[in-house]
This record gives sequence, structure tokens and C-alpha cells, in this order.
Amino acid sequence: MIRNQLEKLIEEKRAAVGVVGLGYVGLPLIIEFCLKGLKGIGFEVDAKKADDINAGLSHIVDVPAENVKKCVDAGTLTATTDFSRLPECDVIIICVPTPLRKTKDPDMSFIMTAGGEIQKYLRRGQLIILESTTYPGTTDEVLQPMFEGEGFKVDEDFLLAFSPERVDPGNPQFQTHNIPKVVGGVSKDSTEIAAKLYGLIVNDVHAVSSARVAEACKLWENTFRAINIGMANEMARLCNALGIDTWEVVRAAATKPFGFMPFYPGPGIGGHCIPLDPHYLSWKARQHGFDSQFISLAEQINSGMPEYVVELTSNALNKTKKAINGSKILILGVAYKKDIDDMRESPALSIIDLLRSRGAEVAYHDPFVPKVTFDHAYTIGEAEPLSNRELTDDLIRECDCTIICTEHSDVDYEKVCELAPLIVDTRNALNEDMRNGSSAKIVRL
Ligand SMILES: NC(=O)c1ccc[n+]([C@@H]2O[C@H](COP(=O)([O-])OP(=O)(O)OC[C@H]3O[C@@H](n4cnc5c(N)ncnc54)[C@H](O)[C@@H]3O)[C@@H](O)[C@H]2O)c1
Repeated sequence: MIRNQLEKLIEEKRAAVGVVGLGYVGLPLIIEFCLKGLKGIGFEVDAKKADDINAGLSHIVDVPAENVKKCVDAGTLTATTDFSRLPECDVIIICVPTPLRKTKDPDMSFIMTAGGEIQKYLRRGQLIILESTTYPGTTDEVLQPMFEGEGFKVDEDFLLAFSPERVDPGNPQFQTHNIPKVVGGVSKDSTEIAAKLYGLIVNDVHAVSSARVAEACKLWENTFRAINIGMANEMARLCNALGIDTWEVVRAAATKPFGFMPFYPGPGIGGHCIPLDPHYLSWKARQHGFDSQFISLAEQINSGMPEYVVELTSNALNKTKKAINGSKILILGVAYKKDIDDMRESPALSIIDLLRSRGAEVAYHDPFVPKVTFDHAYTIGEAEPLSNRELTDDLIRECDCTIICTEHSDVDYEKVCELAPLIVDTRNALNEDMRNGSSAKIVRL
């Protein structure tokens, strides 16, 4: 039985693990297996990433290059663009992107391409696991028929499971080993063997009855975040309308030891997960005649935040008899989240675009992001790329307004408070002392 073969290979740490897609999810994952002594083969379409990894370099902030080098030097890790090496793997884990189309429908092309390569080289005795976030039914409706179309059968010839990734980039407290892992297979053997595999690298594995439950679990988690952030954003606008300090209210509410979990407002949501994943769920629900209203409402509120930040900026400038048109505006932090370099879906892009479409001259400072480019298809203002500017005294002084979009730790906020004439703080980056000691006019979300 292939179950027994795989079980033995995993127990003896002799299983070769192939990871398809070596990005934010795939690279940390393969490193964990390699550090446990398993052989890891990374499959990439981007030859530069594969070459860098083979040279012991890391393109992911959370993965220290020394770990990549250690695995490469030990001979446990190789990266390749050659998919004909897939049969060398006993386990294949798919970690490719799952973006949205312009219509906000799921773009399954990456999963289809990766699945197509696996189908082409599938050999008897492999365990295939999908980790890319996707709608419930992808594993058993899309991948299973693909692989069975080759004359193979689940349990008899291969095992197939879904296990969502929960990596939180930039979070030093929770990393792969201490984030519980949910696993659901298309068969009992698939679930149990996939759970056994993850048990090698994760302290706590939670098995569920099907791949669909695991797929839905991931989307529930991220929809929960999108909706709660949406509520925090609405509460911030409500508090502003009432003249109450939003941040003081959340801080006070968070003292309740049960029944409340703090979520914080901001300039909008970003990254490859929270803005996208709920659409995978609502798309699938629509196919079953179900309209997910919370998801639509949260999307509406969250995607309106960049416009609201621009409105706050416009109102604040107006009080000093200035307009956005012709003003110099400094954006502090453009990555979607604190202390990381990820620009995907970053609300700063929309804010810059809206400001430039209204005639502002925009500069940015972000220690993690050397250059920002704009997708012409979505840009309403000029789509000229921007380069990171050093945070000099002159730059802060000469800008009519500084908007804090991302609260990176390595920024001298005291200096900003001292020199900027006007600050819009969307992240509560400025503490009370800084605000009290500042001569700037400060507007907070
Ligand atoms: N980034 C996160 O924080 C996070 C968290 C949880 C889940 N996820 C999910 O994990 C999946 C991967 O996300 P990511 O952030 O790692 O994406 P990413 O863009 O960082 O990495 C994906 C990698 O896959 C490669 N790739 C694309 N097509 C390929 C193919 N056919 N074969 C081999 N490689 C291919 C790309 O070159 C890229 O290096 C997505 O479904 C995402 O929703 C991401």
C-alpha cells in the first residue's frame, strides 16, 4: 500500500519533499523540512530565484540566508526550473500564487499550470498537497480529476490533501513550527499521511475530515480578519465624526479579558491574503446561489480607506489654505505592513495614485522598499515609478504634509514630529509624548 510506503519514508526522514513555488510560503516551508534533514527540491518558474537559492541567498525577509546556505551546503536543498525532476519527490507541495482577475474572480491559472506539470510527471506513490489559498472544492474538484485522468487512483496510486498556510510575514513570535497546521485529505489515508509529514516540522497538527473543510477553514480565518478590520475602519470614521479618539477607545475595549479581540484601523488592507481571499469564498458561494453580504460590506469599507485618507489630508491642507493640487506630500512607509518589504495590494499605492491624480507631488520613504512601480491598468494618476528618498531634514521640512501609511520601526518619528508642518497618522505611529512635543498639526485616523 502506498500509505505504508510513504509512512515509512516520513518516519525515517527519507522522504524527498518537492515544493512548487518558492515565495513567501514555499521557501520557509522547504527550509523547515531541509533543516530536519529531509531532502528538499524547490521548483520555480523564476530562474533567478532558483539560482539565488542554489547560491545560498534568500529573497524572503523572514528566511535568513544562513539557513538557505546551510541547507544548500549540506546537500539537502536544491532549487530548479526543471519540472522533469518531479518524480524524484515522494511528496509534492504546491505553494503558487492565487491572485484575482480584474473582475475579482479567482485566477486559478497558477494552480492549473503547477497541477499540469505534476500531472505530466506523476508517478505512483506520491503524496501531493496543495497549500495555496483557494475556494472549497479546488483539491477534489480540480486537482483530483486531473491526476486521476492519468489512470491513477487516490489511495491506490497517490494521496492528495489540502493544508492551508498560516505564515504571518514579519512576526518573530509565530513561525512555521509553532503555528498549528490544519490538514484535510481527499481520503482518510491522504489526511493521515499528510498530517504525519507536517508533524515533522510543526508542533501541533489538526486533522479535519476533508480537503474542503481545510480549504474553507483558511478562508473563514482570513474573512474574519477582513471583516473585523472593516469594522475597525468604520469605527475609526465614526469616532472621527464624533470627535472621539479612536485609538484610546480600542485600547480601553481591549482591556476586556473575554469576548473582545482588538483589530486596528488603517489606510486600507494589503498583502496577498486579506484583500483577496474573501473573494474566493464569495465567488464560490455565488455559484451556489448564496450572497455573502458581510464580505461585500467589509470590502466596500476597506477599499474606501485610501480615499478617506486623501480626504483627511485634503481637509487638513485646506485649514492651512493649501490644496492637494500643487502640494508636496511625503508618504512614510509604503509596504502593506510594518517592518516587511511586501508591496502587494498595498493601500499606499492607491493613496499615492489618488494624490497624484489630484495634482500632488509625491515622494516616499520606506527603508524596506527601494522602488515603487504602478500598474498602468489600474492607475488613474501618472504611473511614473517612484524611488525611495532618504529621510533628510530638508525632505521633511519641504513637504507640505507627511502621511504615515506604514509604521515601520526604523523611522525617526521624533524628527518627523519636530520638522513636518502637517502629519496625517493612519497607524497611530506617534505616541502621546511625540504628539505633545510636536509643533506640527497632527491628524489621526
Ligand atoms: N504571503 C503570505 O503571507 C501567505 C500566507 C498564507 C497563505 N498564502 C497563500 O500561499 C500561496 C503562495 O503565496 P506566496 O505569498 O508564497 O506567493 P509568492 O508570489 O511570494 O510566491 C509564489 C512563487 O511561485 C512561483 N511560481 C508561480 N507559478 C509557478 C509554477 N507554475 N511553478 C513553480 N513556481 C511558480 C513564483 O515565481 C513565486 O516565486 C497563495 O495562494 C497565498 O494566498 C500566502
